[in-house]
Amino acid sequence: MADPDEPENKTSASGAARTLRSGEWFAREGKYGFIPRSWMKSQGFSAELFDGRPVIGICNTWSQLTNCNRHLRDLAEDVKRGVLMAGGFPLEFPVTSLGEPLMRPTTMMFRNLVAMDVEETIRANPIDGVVLLAGCDKTTPALLMGAASCDVPSILVSGGPMLNGRYQGRELGSGTDVFRLDEAYRTGKMSKADLDAAEAAMSRSAGSCMTMGTASTMALLSEALGIGLPMNGTIPAPDSRRAVLAEEAGKRIVTLVREDIRISKILTRAAFENAVKVAGAIGGSTNAVVHLLALAGRLGVPFTLNDWDELGRDVPCLVDLKPSGRFLMEEFFDAGGLPVVMRRIAEKLNLDAPAVEGGTIGARIANATSWNDEVIRPVDNPLTREGGLVVLRGNLAPDGAILKPSAASPKLMQHRGRAMVFKDAEDLRNRIDDPDLDVDADSVLVLQNAGPRGYPGMPEVGTMALPKKLLKQGVTDMVRVSDARMSGTAFGTVVLHVAPESALGGPLALVQTGDMIVLDTKARRIDVEIDAEEMERRRAAFVPPAPHYERGYGKLFIDHVQQADKGVDFDFLVGGSGTPPSKVSF
Ligand code: FES
Ligand code: MG
Repeated sequence: MADPDEPENKTSASGAARTLRSGEWFAREGKYGFIPRSWMKSQGFSAELFDGRPVIGICNTWSQLTNCNRHLRDLAEDVKRGVLMAGGFPLEFPVTSLGEPLMRPTTMMFRNLVAMDVEETIRANPIDGVVLLAGCDKTTPALLMGAASCDVPSILVSGGPMLNGRYQGRELGSGTDVFRLDEAYRTGKMSKADLDAAEAAMSRSAGSCMTMGTASTMALLSEALGIGLPMNGTIPAPDSRRAVLAEEAGKRIVTLVREDIRISKILTRAAFENAVKVAGAIGGSTNAVVHLLALAGRLGVPFTLNDWDELGRDVPCLVDLKPSGRFLMEEFFDAGGLPVVMRRIAEKLNLDAPAVEGGTIGARIANATSWNDEVIRPVDNPLTREGGLVVLRGNLAPDGAILKPSAASPKLMQHRGRAMVFKDAEDLRNRIDDPDLDVDADSVLVLQNAGPRGYPGMPEVGTMALPKKLLKQGVTDMVRVSDARMSGTAFGTVVLHVAPESALGGPLALVQTGDMIVLDTKARRIDVEIDAEEMERRRAAFVPPAPHYERGYGKLFIDHVQQADKGVDFDFLVGGSGTPPSKVSF
C-alpha cells in the first residue's frame, strides 16, 4: 500500500484528461497536497477549484509608479472572469513594474530583472499558463522574455493606449509633442502658463503613450507575432472593448493549456519575420530591435540584426501616426487597426503563422477593412516608401548601428560633416546650449558612453536636443550618432545602437571633435574619416571609464549585459529552461 505522504502526482477523479503542472502541487494526496491546498483556501477558494483544472497565472505590472499601467488591476478582473468562464482557476500575481517617466537611470536597465522575476515566479509556482498584462514600454518585452524562458502557454494582453491628448483645439501626442512644446518654450514662442496647461492635457487617461512610441509598437508587434489577440494593439485603454479582449484572453488561455500550445509554438521564426515587416509598416519604434532580438534569443529562434534590414527593406510605412505622421492611436483603432495594415502587406507576410486565438494570421486578417485611408494609407500611397529600419556598418560601427528612415530628413541621409563630440550625456547637457559651441547645421553631433554598459542601461538620449543657437536659426534636424537608444516618440536623422559601444572601447570612443563623419544610408555605412593607423594610435591610448557600480544589481548588469546587436539581454539568460518537475521542499 502506498504511503499517503509519498509525493506522487495524481489527478482527482474529476480532473483534466492530462495531468497538468499544477497537479504537482494541488493533486497530491497526504500532506504534500494538504499544505498548498489548505493555505490557498485561506483566500476563500472552494475545493472545486483544486480539481485539476488549468491554473492560470495573471502576471500583472500594475503600479502607481507606472501610470501607464495603472488600470491593469481592473483588467486582471476581466481576465479572471474569462478564465472562470472557461473552467480555469485564475491567480493574479505582481511582478516588478517599469515606468518610463520615473525610473532612473533608465527602465532598460531593469528589463532583464523583470524578465527574471517573471520567469522564476512562473517556474516556482503551480502555474499552467499565463496571461501577461503589460503596457508601458519595457513591460511588454520583459514579460514575454520571462514567459518564453519557461515555455508555458501564454497570451499577452496590453493595457491599450491613452485617449488622445488635446489642448487649445489641437491634439497632443505623448512624447512627440513634448519635444515641440519644449522647443517652443525654450525659444520664447510659448508662455510658461500655456506650457503648464499643455502638461496636464497631454496625459489624461489610463493607458500607454498614444503615439507610435515603444509601448504602442510592442503592443502592436505582440499582435503581429500572434501572441496577442486581434486588436490588442489599438483598443484604447478606457474603451470597454479592451475589457472584452481581456475576458477573451482569459477564456482562450484555458484552451491553450488544455491543448498544450506553448509560447514557442506561436513565436516561431515566421512570427518574427512578420513582426519585422509590421514594424516597418507601422513606423515602429527603434526599441523593438533590441526587444525582439532578446526575445528570439530566449526561444532559440535564429534571428539577427541583419534580419531587420533585409526583411524590412521594401516595406512601406502605411500608418500615418506621430512621431513620423499626423494621427494618434485612437484614429488608428477607428480606422480598423493592425489587421488592416497586415492585410495591405499580406503578400510579404507568412500567412500560415499561428495566432493565439487559434487558426492562422492569414485567417485573422482575411476580412480586415479600412475605414480611413488617411490614417492607414494604401500601399500605393504610403507615408514613406521605406518604412523598415536601416542597419548601418562601417569603421564607426563594426557590429552595427541603426537608423529609422521614416523619422529622418531625406536630405541628411547622405551626409558628410564635422563631428562635435560629447563624452557623455552630462557633457551634452552642459554644453549643448553654449552660444560658443563650434557647430553649424552640417555638424554631426556625437555622443559617447551612453550604451548598455556605459550609462549604464542604454538610455533614450540618442535624440540629443539640438543646440539652441541652431534652433534659433531655424535648423530642425542634424545628423546625430551614439550608442544610446531613442524614444519611440522621437524623430530626427539619428544613428543609434552603435556597437561595440564606446565604454568598451568601440570606435565611437575614439572619435574626436573635428573628425569628418560620413553617413551613407544608401550604402548602409557609417564611417569616420580617420585612417587605420590613427585609429590604432587612439585605440592604444583609450582608457575605459570607471564602472558605475561595484555591487548589487547594477554590477550584475554591467558584468553580464550583451551589446545592442545581441538585444541587450544578459549572457546567462539567453535560452530557456522550461518548467521541469520541481522538488518538494517541506
Ligand atoms: Fe509609459 Fe510611454 S511612458 S507608455
Ligand atoms: Mg518611450
